[in-house]
Amino acid sequence: MTAQTPRLEIRNLTRRFEGKTVVNDVSLSILPGNVTCLLGPSGCGKSTTLRMIAGVDMQDSGTIHVDGRLICDTITRVPPERRSIGLMFQDFALFPHLSVGDNVAFGLKGPKAAQRERVMQLLGRVGLGGYVDNWPHELSGGEQQRVALARALAPRPRVMLMDEPFSGLDNRLRDGIRDETLALLKEEGTSVLLVTHEPEEAMRMADEIALMRDGRIVQRGAPYNIYNAPVDKAAVAFFSDINVLEGVVQGALVDTPFGQFLAPGHADGARVEIVFRPQHVSIDFDRSGRGPLPTPLQGTPARGVVERARFMGSESLVEFRMDHDAQVLRATVPNVFLPRVGTPMWLSVRRNRCFVFPAG
Ligand SMILES: Nc1ncnc2c1ncn2[C@@H]1O[C@H](COP(=O)(O)OP(=O)(O)O)[C@@H](O)[C@H]1O
Ligand SMILES: [Mg+2]
Repeated sequence: MTAQTPRLEIRNLTRRFEGKTVVNDVSLSILPGNVTCLLGPSGCGKSTTLRMIAGVDMQDSGTIHVDGRLICDTITRVPPERRSIGLMFQDFALFPHLSVGDNVAFGLKGPKAAQRERVMQLLGRVGLGGYVDNWPHELSGGEQQRVALARALAPRPRVMLMDEPFSGLDNRLRDGIRDETLALLKEEGTSVLLVTHEPEEAMRMADEIALMRDGRIVQRGAPYNIYNAPVDKAAVAFFSDINVLEGVVQGALVDTPFGQFLAPGHADGARVEIVFRPQHVSIDFDRSGRGPLPTPLQGTPARGVVERARFMGSESLVEFRMDHDAQVLRATVPNVFLPRVGTPMWLSVRRNRCFVFPAG
């Protein structure tokens, strides 16, 4: 069996501006029909990467292939309109002087009747079949977004590049439009590279996430793997609040107020950080100064006092000042429970949800 040719493949892309490396040796491949999210904080180089793939910016080194065909290296450069790449950027502005139908038809070639059929098919698909002769300004923001998506998909691009396409929509609309967009992209079989700085958006949309930081891709994988097997502390922290315990390794074990943790692969004397998310902390009431018994899964409980408790809707976030070292640790608990400030409680940490990283 031969491996499937990636729809989009970029290798070792690097881009410098004024001596500063903004995209640093980035490689990625996307299989046909898959959605990859390029996820990272603002300024990490996501848009620059997309702009090079689109052909509106030029890399200093590296190659771009679509369906195995070289689109761009430092010698060859296929112009943007011949790359079979669809674009949907932050400011997806429709052409104001063209009707909705003409906007969608904009990138189409060939017989008028076939164009018309494709336009009506897509507008119907996004629920705007009745708006073909309207002007863009007569549509709501969400409707304009749908037209922009139809316009980008009309010429059947091999690859869609989307740069924070939902960031201009209000929250209430956004979830629905994301799901509809994803469904349509899947139906069309388009491969997608979607840029976002929002972890929830990436988890919702992606078959694969490429986590980017300071111009580099630091981790690639399915959302489940990125979330549950992060490469470093920053990768954990990008998706949620975190708690950190510090310790020193002795015989592959670290002593903490929550008992001993395994630290395989860390040398004796190494300083490490044990990182865990607030939702993996469970809490119990204090019974005359005693907490629950230690278990293999939860380890030894440690006592703290509620310092702050905030109701967040589906859950509450509770901050504890720990007895042992006055460190603040956070736990999230189901919404109905909101303990009073000053209440002593016992915290336990799910062992199998902790990550041990070298300190630094
Ligand atoms: N044309 C340019 N000239 C100089 N610096 C640029 C240019 N384009 C982007 N940058 C810089 O490159 C970095 C990454 O930008 P960008 O790719 O837009 O990040 P992101 O999309 O992840 O927020 C930023 O520091 C930005 O200021
Ligand atoms: Mg950007």
